[in-house]
Amino acid sequence: MRKGHLDSNCRYLAVQKALTAEGEIENIVLKGWVRTVRSGKGVTFLALNDGSSMASIQVVIDASHPDHEAVSAIGTGAALEVEGDLVASPAEGQRWEVKAARITMVGEAGHDYPLQKKRHSFEFLRTIAHLRPRSNTFGAVFRMRNALSFAVHKFFQERGFLYVQTPIITANDCEGAGEMFRVTTLDPRNPPLENSQIDWREDFFGEKTGLTVSGQLQAELFATAFSKVYTFGPTFRAENSNTSRHVAEFWMIEPEIAFANLQDDCKLAEDFLRYHVIYTLENCGEDLQFFNDRIEKGLIDKLEKLAKAEFHVLPYTEAISILQKSGENFAYPVEWGLDLQSEHERYLTEKVFDGPIFVVDYPAQIKAFYMRLNDDERTVAAMDLLVPRVGEIIGGSQREERYDILKMRMDAMGVPSEPLAWYMDIRRWGSCPHAGFGLGFERFLMYVTGMENIRDVIPFPRTPGNAQF
Ligand code: 4AD
Ligand code: MG
Repeated sequence: MRKGHLDSNCRYLAVQKALTAEGEIENIVLKGWVRTVRSGKGVTFLALNDGSSMASIQVVIDASHPDHEAVSAIGTGAALEVEGDLVASPAEGQRWEVKAARITMVGEAGHDYPLQKKRHSFEFLRTIAHLRPRSNTFGAVFRMRNALSFAVHKFFQERGFLYVQTPIITANDCEGAGEMFRVTTLDPRNPPLENSQIDWREDFFGEKTGLTVSGQLQAELFATAFSKVYTFGPTFRAENSNTSRHVAEFWMIEPEIAFANLQDDCKLAEDFLRYHVIYTLENCGEDLQFFNDRIEKGLIDKLEKLAKAEFHVLPYTEAISILQKSGENFAYPVEWGLDLQSEHERYLTEKVFDGPIFVVDYPAQIKAFYMRLNDDERTVAAMDLLVPRVGEIIGGSQREERYDILKMRMDAMGVPSEPLAWYMDIRRWGSCPHAGFGLGFERFLMYVTGMENIRDVIPFPRTPGNAQF
């Protein structure tokens, strides 16, 4: 056995390509990590995986191998280069295997390698986030995340949307919820003060800045130049909620469309979801089957149903009345003017509609300043898309395009208009009805994989008290 020599050449095949080969191939090279090792009478079987597919390929090393002693030292987790012939496998459940002619140990792994054969809990795997991508579940999660990231761009590009990269550092709290992480170069022990308040004019950007909670405000500007735009980028919320649906850093997809109202917005959201569900069914078969068998029984049926489902539209006022008449014992009060809690959202999608629903026309006082005031002057043209099990995955609205009404709403909600003069300008020159939404990519992944904790669909989750890795 040779040590540490990487022999990359034209005979190299990804495991996925080897597993789906049309026929036997002589003299191929595979590189990957050992998932399992089994030794029998003079024969060693390895399962080699390189992340290109859920399935590993079986490598057979027989007693005639020149370095059989050293082969017996190969441990789970080791990185190997294997040369040999791809041949039909006599074993059940696999078409091909590799008869090894030469094995090169690239990187050893001892018995203390934490990912041994037994099934580990997701809690444990979170503590080894640097290794969990090498497990079956996380392999499937991150291949699916990759496939759907690509599909997001494909969906929008096929429809003539412009991809815009909105800033990560910003002075504006779009949602007005005070959940921004601070970005500063001031000395925390000795900040410049004026009237015992920090003088942000002295800071790097000359004003108080933070990490963006949404790219929407800038996306609106681009929509009034390019008609249809979308963002897809990191988003930050310093909310101290330790739930299975919240992380402090997540990825949001935010389309924004000009000459559009709330109905157009809902239609876009519906098309988006349907497209991605069908994309998943057509392109992620092996991983989806794994989630269906191991994570959420009936997942594939659920997605097939969703691909054909009718998305109900439910005005907030009606939602409140359904909840009040439900006879359920909710922990949080149900009353017109109060926000819906996750228990209410789940009751509506799971018990009442058994499918996705748009809740629209929320009371103005519980929604952000930019949402368009309806003619009743009590509600705004907002929409949330709720799905069973996960709850809210999309939040969006038609935007207030009328300058005077926007100004009035901002004043009423205590949103200072001076720092947002640029945003309001759009309402002065060539203003037009426009609408958009934000989809939490991780919430969507939870829905299509069946994974129950948002920490398990993002590579390195950031939550209160946790930014390791
Ligand atoms: O409802 P939100 O706060 O809406 C906005 O930010 C709008 N500016 C979007 C727009 O209209 N362009 O957030 C949108 C979505 C939520 O529905 C949820 O899926 C996700 O972002 N989200 C989170 N995902 C994970 N962790 C968090 N802490 C999240 N907060 C919101
Ligand atoms: Mg929301």
